[in-house]
Amino acid sequence: MSAKTYPVAKSTRANAQIDAETYHKWYRESIENPDRFWDKHGMRIDWFKPYTKVKNTSFNGKVPIKWFEDGLTNASYNCIDRHLKTRGNQVAIIFEGDNPYIDKKITYNELYEQVCRLANVMKKHGVKKGDRVTIYMPMIPEAAYAMLACSRIGAVHSVVFGGFSPEAVAGRIVDCQSSFVITCDEGVRGGKPIPLKDNVDTAIHIAARQHVQVKNVLVVRRTGGKVGWAPGRDHWYHQELASVKTECPPVKMKAEDPLFILYTSGSTGKPKGVLHTTGGYMVYTSMTHQYVFDYRPGDIYWCTADVGWVTGHSYIVYGPLANGATTLMFEGVPNFPDQGRFWEVVDKHKVNIFYTAPTAIRSLMGAGDEFVKRSSRASLRILGTVGEPINPEAWEWYYNVVGDGRCPVIDTWWQTETGGHMITPLPGATALKPGSATLPFFGIKPQLVDAEGQVLDGPADGNLVIADSWPGQMRTVYGDHERFVQTYFSTYKGKYFTGDGCRRDEDGYYWITGRVDDVLNVSGHRMGTAEIESALVSHDAVSEAAVVGYPHDIKGQGIYCYVTLMAGQSGSEELRKELVAHVRKEIGPIASPDKIQFAPGLPKTRSGKIMRRILRKIAEDDFSALGDTSTLADPAVVEDLIANRQNRQ
Ligand code: WTA
Repeated sequence: MSAKTYPVAKSTRANAQIDAETYHKWYRESIENPDRFWDKHGMRIDWFKPYTKVKNTSFNGKVPIKWFEDGLTNASYNCIDRHLKTRGNQVAIIFEGDNPYIDKKITYNELYEQVCRLANVMKKHGVKKGDRVTIYMPMIPEAAYAMLACSRIGAVHSVVFGGFSPEAVAGRIVDCQSSFVITCDEGVRGGKPIPLKDNVDTAIHIAARQHVQVKNVLVVRRTGGKVGWAPGRDHWYHQELASVKTECPPVKMKAEDPLFILYTSGSTGKPKGVLHTTGGYMVYTSMTHQYVFDYRPGDIYWCTADVGWVTGHSYIVYGPLANGATTLMFEGVPNFPDQGRFWEVVDKHKVNIFYTAPTAIRSLMGAGDEFVKRSSRASLRILGTVGEPINPEAWEWYYNVVGDGRCPVIDTWWQTETGGHMITPLPGATALKPGSATLPFFGIKPQLVDAEGQVLDGPADGNLVIADSWPGQMRTVYGDHERFVQTYFSTYKGKYFTGDGCRRDEDGYYWITGRVDDVLNVSGHRMGTAEIESALVSHDAVSEAAVVGYPHDIKGQGIYCYVTLMAGQSGSEELRKELVAHVRKEIGPIASPDKIQFAPGLPKTRSGKIMRRILRKIAEDDFSALGDTSTLADPAVVEDLIANRQNRQ
């Protein structure tokens, strides 16, 4: 771990909104008197009826969490209407196409009209407040319009990442009983088409078998590629929008009315529908976006995430637009037409704040500095990262080569569940240490606990928990509140358990060490080992499967699968390919196994529990210290696993 400390960069300190003294003062107030602190900052968004109650939360019992509960507001109003007077003609969204010759700018006035029209189309088809709408879209402005149109009329959106398979889309449609889908004929990434509408058609069939009927599909025409059509059910977006009014009043939403559901993987079972509500989420995402990136009016801001993930929700759409920012939506990939694309786009649109994932940084670092050096990047002021621990080597490259040593690297730790940034430096306030997410944001009370739940003081290594509520946190698992309580608040009573391991150093800085549960982080994408295992065992040839992560230079973690076969099956190269294809079909390409090892048996305790610790060690190619294997039902299994391991270095 790097011991190097970078002082607060001088260039940002000169006029940053929060300096070190202000950070400490505000932080102290936010912890000592959260009601007073959030009463003040809650007013950063517009309310139709201001709240009188601020915080009403408990991490015990049924874990009721309410913020600003008697206030009335609307997310879409805050992202659009309130800016029209002062910046109606300012660009709200810059669209940069997959094809470098395609781009488009959408002003706040245009955004207003598009969102109102779409909201009216949805109303015309009977979508009402509280209804769930599935959005399965590429990175085009219509994806943001769709989210904002839902929030305008109080519908709850569930965005499903465009890289998920029809099976995965169907599972999410069924779970939240969604009867309205917004999609696109085809997406385009790296010059290749992605059959989104076809996938939706398949997903709708699968959902129908589980008695969930999708009644309407709105289809954006992106490529003009051929698609199937169900008359009465399918509608062209452009045709529908042409015939409705350009005004649609925003629905007055209670602060705790649901804003969206976003499915995410946990250590057990199928993905959970993380539910976020309106008021607290908008306050928290807009506030973190402003201070964490030292965002100022006029800045061009670019987050490279996909709207299918929480980073896209909070920091492409809701946070930046609530602040009246210009937010860039990029349809493509970092290496198309070549590995210089990011920096070309930075120069082309004069991007000031750039936010990406360590996996992208590592892969671009591997391509060589020439791709960076041919751009100027003079507009850049802030560099951010998110999604997984950033190794100090990648951090240094990002800081020195991409940022020319002038832009602070803001390593933001947070989760789908937390809604917004939790542990992060603030430019102008926090001295940086490469690899550390540094210090908590206002109102965030991190603690480290040992396996028994004892709180550890001072420098320590432990499990990361959060001791009290903050406005942006998830409120429940959609349709299963008990699962919410069990998953997050039962491991350590009265505390939110993050699932991450963490070290705190002598300066009080936090260093996230990665998940301590059975969740993988592959290229910044969260995946449950249980999901991949269940995809594998759904193949006829497979009897049993255990999936673990192993260190991967670019992706952070790779997916290592141990598979035992049904009697009579043999582990051929062909079957290996078939299993990879099967997992891609069940979940999506992001879950493609990197290694599959056919094994006659898995190491189990006498009570039948798979010993994952051993499997992890073998996958890491580090089997010298397997620890105690004497409790295994059949110790010989381990010998075979080592002898046939797939990861020899
Ligand atoms: C990991 C993404 C280290 C962590 C916003 C967390 C990080 C999981 C960082 C959440 C970071 C995210 N440093 N690890 N800066 N950011 N993580 O829900 O393990 O997709 O629990 O949210 O990503 O992933 P999720």
